[in-house]
Amino acid sequence: MQGRKLLHGGDYNPEQWLDRPDILAQDIELMKKARVNTVTLGVFSWSVLEPEEGVFNLDWLADIIHNLYANGIRTILATPSAARPAWLAHKYPEVRRVRADRVRELYNRRQNYCYTSPLYRDKVRRIDQKLAQRFGSDPAVILWHISNEMGGDCHCELCQAEFRRWLQTRYGSLQALNKAWNARFWSHDYTDWEQIESPAPQGENAVQALALDWKRFVSDRHIDFLKFERDTVKEIAPNAKFTVNMMYRFDGIDYFKMEKEIDVASWDNYPTWHKPSETVEETALDTAMMHDLFYSMKDKPFLLMESSPSFTNWQPVSKQKKPGIAELAALQTVAHGADSVLYFQWRASRGAEEKLHGAVIGHDGREDARSFTETAQVGQELETLAEITAVKREKQAAIVHDWQNKWALEGSCGPRNAGMGYWDELKRHYNALAREGIAVEFVDQNADLTGYGLVVVPMLYLLTDAFAKKLCAFAQSGGTVIVTYWSGVVDESDLCRLGDTPYGLTELLGLRRTEIDGMYDGETRSCMPVAGCTLPAAQASILCEVAALDEENPAEPLSLYDEDYFAGHPAVAVHRYGKGRAYYLASRFDEAFYRAFYHDAAKEIGLSQAWPEALPEGVLAVRRGSFVFVQNCTEQPATVGNTVLERYRTAVWKGKDRIF
Ligand code: GLA
Ligand code: ZN
Repeated sequence: MQGRKLLHGGDYNPEQWLDRPDILAQDIELMKKARVNTVTLGVFSWSVLEPEEGVFNLDWLADIIHNLYANGIRTILATPSAARPAWLAHKYPEVRRVRADRVRELYNRRQNYCYTSPLYRDKVRRIDQKLAQRFGSDPAVILWHISNEMGGDCHCELCQAEFRRWLQTRYGSLQALNKAWNARFWSHDYTDWEQIESPAPQGENAVQALALDWKRFVSDRHIDFLKFERDTVKEIAPNAKFTVNMMYRFDGIDYFKMEKEIDVASWDNYPTWHKPSETVEETALDTAMMHDLFYSMKDKPFLLMESSPSFTNWQPVSKQKKPGIAELAALQTVAHGADSVLYFQWRASRGAEEKLHGAVIGHDGREDARSFTETAQVGQELETLAEITAVKREKQAAIVHDWQNKWALEGSCGPRNAGMGYWDELKRHYNALAREGIAVEFVDQNADLTGYGLVVVPMLYLLTDAFAKKLCAFAQSGGTVIVTYWSGVVDESDLCRLGDTPYGLTELLGLRRTEIDGMYDGETRSCMPVAGCTLPAAQASILCEVAALDEENPAEPLSLYDEDYFAGHPAVAVHRYGKGRAYYLASRFDEAFYRAFYHDAAKEIGLSQAWPEALPEGVLAVRRGSFVFVQNCTEQPATVGNTVLERYRTAVWKGKDRIF
């Protein structure tokens, strides 16, 4: 285990301080005091690395990397493609994105390059090659960070042509495309590939399968760009390892597909702690859900690439983390399977958009500032926890989160254009499981379900044939499946399934959908448990499905709608299937319902809780290998076993030993 280290540090922008050697020297001293062992360099350094076209200057970066290394600090090196220099954008307009309304952007901001432009790729290739030649086998560089927070889309002519090529590969013929898109609707049959354009406010938006394919295409473009950068570096540095920093609830890229092209998953975490609409526990759960999503990417430890040590400056209100929250957030990150706590940023910029963004070192440069002292304390605790590095989490429950499904679900008109609340649906299942101390992973429809005891299938509107079969096989061999309303509606092309639905699952569930009703915000329909069932009475909302039980092999209703013409139809039902069983949830219920439901389900399935006893409200327990973290997310002290935890404090056990 010797030599294991949780990474601690973060984004460092010395290019902004090259005229201040005193500050660069102070950085090293303070990093050591804060127990920083890793920094991310070069994310936005292109204009210094290549101040003029073809004129490269990497010496300053080499000096910084080696000076840090001599002081025990290693580097995650970024490729600078996210933000290009002004000279490049001015000389070569094609590198600037064209918006959906077909207007080409002026030079601005970042993360807005045309990912198709051969010219942009050429310029990126040259700078990446220089970096790889210089640092590709440098022991100071432990990981390559490709670009930064990829996202957005480009509608330029190059991208339109590429889209048409992509469609040709997917469909082969226009006939097949027209059929898959049901383009005959409103007489939209395409007779020439050139007629196909990306969605636009003044253009096409009614062919929903086109919009879905555009999302798939854009996602593929980003992944293609990532592969291009990765391979450029790899050609020169064959042993290099790669990551890309992903984002909170990000919709624009199928991260499960992207993950396959990198070695380590990483993400940037900026929760809005202390907002009036949420308790600290709720914010913690919302964050935990993302940690678990990024752990699931590779089913192994991930990196937290960015987080604020104090506050951000882009959220509606810049709120300071209260004392103790930085520690709570850092330890939560590790508990959920991260091997790092990295910040954006080490030192605050003096000017431009992020000058008022939190940093470990503020403009006063003081080490007695709270952002510094709390960071240093976290650094110390991470050293104590070094042994947890690379320890995996156990497999217990999986929730299906599939990007393609989300795109199709949200891109369809009806049954609730006022918002389907996809994340809200996921969150209700997640929160209830996490409050039980059950480890949750997220999977898409390509996942292998082996090893899980429970698979939750919320609003899987776009359900593939293969996954429907996989779910049935999972239940057949003893697994428990939970399927909600609005599942199994369309195929991969967003074509409605013909015949009984949820498509492919009616036998598993012992019922079929007959209707679905959209509900106004705040509108509810009450549901009552059947005699002998311990589930609580519940309020259904958002979407209410009506199901008819199978005539030969019916599900057993556990709770029934109790109102209006819905009365007597199943709100919750269970059906034995092979060695396992499947539950059906006909609507979105209140939080108390899910807590009771998953409490019972976890027991029935035999999923063991991270903490063996019931915990006080607002105290969360998470297990990672033999380590158990118990976190008090309330404003008051809480008693756990024979320990009193002050507000926001964490206790960590390894086996029977309390570490802190
Ligand atoms: C993102 C970016 C960083 C920085 C932070 C600010 O995560 O990757 O460069 O802008 O946001 O919170
Ligand atoms: Zn483009």
